[in-house]
Amino acid sequence: MSDALLTEESVSAAVEAALAAVDAATDTAALKAARIAHTGESSALARLNARLRDLPPAEKPAAGKLVGQARGRVNAAVAAREAVLAEAERAALLEAERVDLTAAPVRARIGARHPLTLVRETVEDAFIAMGWEVASGPELEHEWFNFDALNIDPDHPARSPQDTLFVEPLGAHLVMRTQTSPVQVRSLIERGAPLYVLAPGRVYRTDEIDATHLPVFNQFEGLAIDRGLTMAHLRGTLEHLARRMFGEAARIRLRPNFFPFTEPSAEMDVWQPNAKGGARWIEWGGCGMVHPNVLRAAGLDPEEFQGFAFGLGIERTLQFAEDLNDMRDMIEGDVRFAGQWGLVTR
Ligand code: FA5
Ligand code: MG
Repeated sequence: MSDALLTEESVSAAVEAALAAVDAATDTAALKAARIAHTGESSALARLNARLRDLPPAEKPAAGKLVGQARGRVNAAVAAREAVLAEAERAALLEAERVDLTAAPVRARIGARHPLTLVRETVEDAFIAMGWEVASGPELEHEWFNFDALNIDPDHPARSPQDTLFVEPLGAHLVMRTQTSPVQVRSLIERGAPLYVLAPGRVYRTDEIDATHLPVFNQFEGLAIDRGLTMAHLRGTLEHLARRMFGEAARIRLRPNFFPFTEPSAEMDVWQPNAKGGARWIEWGGCGMVHPNVLRAAGLDPEEFQGFAFGLGIERTLQFAEDLNDMRDMIEGDVRFAGQWGLVTR
């Protein structure tokens, strides 16, 4: 580029070009390029400035002032544009990175307590409210607690391998407990009488799995031992529980039955007015007055202490309370099942 003479016209032409380029810059990168082109060492203004030295001394002050003011205007325009573009870019960045604190969170489902747990806790609460204690015993149980102490003969059919899971070595006389009733004797030995105790827990049988039976299921055992307890206390307690679990309209009935560890014994049915196939009675559990031999096995005098016991199925309780067709749904671990009782989310 041939250098123009240092005149007012050439200076103002350089300034106009510089200001136009500054205005045309739409981001800070373009502005930087315009700044270098119009104020840098090889810019028109810099070259006009260099020509100052060719001027006669008398003209230098006025020409120097002209170029200096021109460079000042361009620099000021660059700085002003720089501020505008930087602010716009900052605002765009903030907008792009915006976090909306008021937006609805994405809810992650973290699970639910199993309805069987909820039933167990409701039953526990009902008895704790009446002043009962909650107890537990081992699932791997000694044959003596599971059978002998409960007055069950050595040749009783329940003791056969067709019904009971015996654990090797057989000489150790250990079984997977078939009922929660052994906790009756354990609690009496550990805590003595009088005693009001509820013992929920898992039990094991060789039962075939179907809509109303599982080989591993849960029972809750109740045991009340005191002076002067009668069958009326048993009935009142179970009626109270039935209303608590199935609503105020719930009714129970006791049918004569046999258990070696109670005398008299009964099977307890609960009335289901709204059952899918029509109103009906269904078996909920077994109960009776504790047999004197059980009291003796626990070291008590049956003349002084009497009481009642019952054993109910927790899966059955859930099945009746919620009108569920198939008990197998309870053990499949499908969260869509448990989710019907309310998922915990975060
Ligand atoms: C007993 O287990 C006695 N120990 C109950 C008892 C306790 C009687 C105290 C007297 C005094 P039974 O085998 O009937 O009884 O079982 C009691 C309840 O457990 C049944 O009514 C039913 O609700 C439940 N149950 C029994 N077998 C199964 C099974 N395979 N799957 C699910 N629930 C079952
Ligand atoms: Mg039964």
